[in-house]
Amino acid sequence: MGKERWSQRAVCCLLLMALMARNHAAVVDVKTKGAKGDGKTNDGPAIVDAWKAACAGPPPSSVLFPPGIYMAFPPIDLMGPCKGPIEFKATGATIKAPPELAKFKTDAWIWFTKVDSLTMTGGTYDGQGQETWKNNKCSTSGTCSLPSTIKLSFVKNALVKDVTSANAKFFHMFIVDCENTRLDHVTIDAPGNSVNTDGIHVGRVSGVNITDTNIKTGDDCISFGDGSKNVHVERVTCGPGHGISIGSLGRYPNEAPVAGIWIKNCTFTGTLNGVRIKTWPGGTPGTASDMHFDDIIMTNVGTPILIDQLYCPYSPCQKGPSKVKISNVSFRKIRGSSSTKIAIRLACSPGLPCDNVEVADINLTFKGPGGPATSECSSVKPKVVGQVVPPACPGGPK
Ligand SMILES: *[C@@H]1O[C@H](CO)[C@@H](O)[C@H](O)[C@H]1NC(C)=O
Ligand SMILES: *[C@@H]1O[C@H](CO)[C@@H](O)[C@H](O)[C@H]1NC(C)=O
Ligand SMILES: *[C@@H]1O[C@H](CO)[C@@H](O)[C@H](O)[C@H]1NC(C)=O
Ligand SMILES: *[C@@H]1O[C@H](CO)[C@@H](O)[C@H](O)[C@H]1NC(C)=O
Repeated sequence: MGKERWSQRAVCCLLLMALMARNHAAVVDVKTKGAKGDGKTNDGPAIVDAWKAACAGPPPSSVLFPPGIYMAFPPIDLMGPCKGPIEFKATGATIKAPPELAKFKTDAWIWFTKVDSLTMTGGTYDGQGQETWKNNKCSTSGTCSLPSTIKLSFVKNALVKDVTSANAKFFHMFIVDCENTRLDHVTIDAPGNSVNTDGIHVGRVSGVNITDTNIKTGDDCISFGDGSKNVHVERVTCGPGHGISIGSLGRYPNEAPVAGIWIKNCTFTGTLNGVRIKTWPGGTPGTASDMHFDDIIMTNVGTPILIDQLYCPYSPCQKGPSKVKISNVSFRKIRGSSSTKIAIRLACSPGLPCDNVEVADINLTFKGPGGPATSECSSVKPKVVGQVVPPACPGGPK
């Protein structure tokens, strides 16, 4: 009997403790740290303070934004490790960056780093990048360091959902050195002339899923840098913008392999390119393999299917073939219209021809001078499955 009594007490005590932990979970409203949400006051320091309190407090922690407009000057450095899972919840709120580039000292505006189990929920992040686009010199200088709107580095197990990023100064979302990241129902919104505003750029990541996402921007819809591994992109719409790009690769020393990218059920409208793999001529060695593009609708897209191993947008360009080996690629069920005559271009490296490239069930039309659509191939012998229009590499590779 005594024993039973004791266990009842123990259960009771545990329940009480659980309840207390719940009540004491660190839920920090940014207004309690002095944020005004009036669209004018610099709420940056209050946001950072709220993060520090939530991160150090008992989990599950959260930072909450009541509805309002929060002007947030950098740096917004949100660092871990935290005591446990943490949520950054801005549903109904708009967070605005200052327009002046001079206020930014690093490559990120809202920067999460070294956090495990981060959830970002809701909110509109407005980078106010219009001035920065006008003065962008990245393409003439070949190097550029501008702030991305949301950066995640060394973050594990992140979920970004229902978040909107508008008018970034540079990348809208920059995900690097992360493990197991999910982005769901994200909205990216910037005009077609917003220079260098990639929608989502990922690099050195393992396990990224991007689903049900809408991306209108001025540069790549989604781009993958070296070390992108095990990535799934499903039900994403792109346009305006430059399409989905793997690369550019082979520009820097010691690039990590790209391996395992699946792009499915996506729609491209009016983009400069469709799905593209790009590497620099000359450059450094690397590999990119196991990349699959499946069930894609293209409307008025310039070069919907593209492997470009001569990618060099800025001179001087290095001489010699690309040293990046591309293998195990498939383009399946891709249909719609091309805005340029060459709907399929597979330009592989003459030094390292592409291996095991499949094109299956393609129907891309072109209406315009010199039509119908054609394809162009070099250093590749694709395996053709089903009906492929325009015929891929009809005369064999050059
Ligand atoms: C990512 O997507 C793949 C393919 O749909 C799925 O197998 C995997 O479980 C997903 N991972 C996460 C963390 O959602
Ligand atoms: C694309 O979505 C359709 C409809 O949901 C589905 O039947 C099809 O299998 C999907 N394609 C791929 C490659 O997952
Ligand atoms: C390419 O696919 C083949 C056959 O499926 C496989 O044996 C090979 O290891 C793959 N190559 C790479 C680099 O992934
Ligand atoms: C390709 O698409 C065009 C336009 O939608 C259509 O008229 C044509 O029949 C299709 N061709 C094939 C082989 O499916």
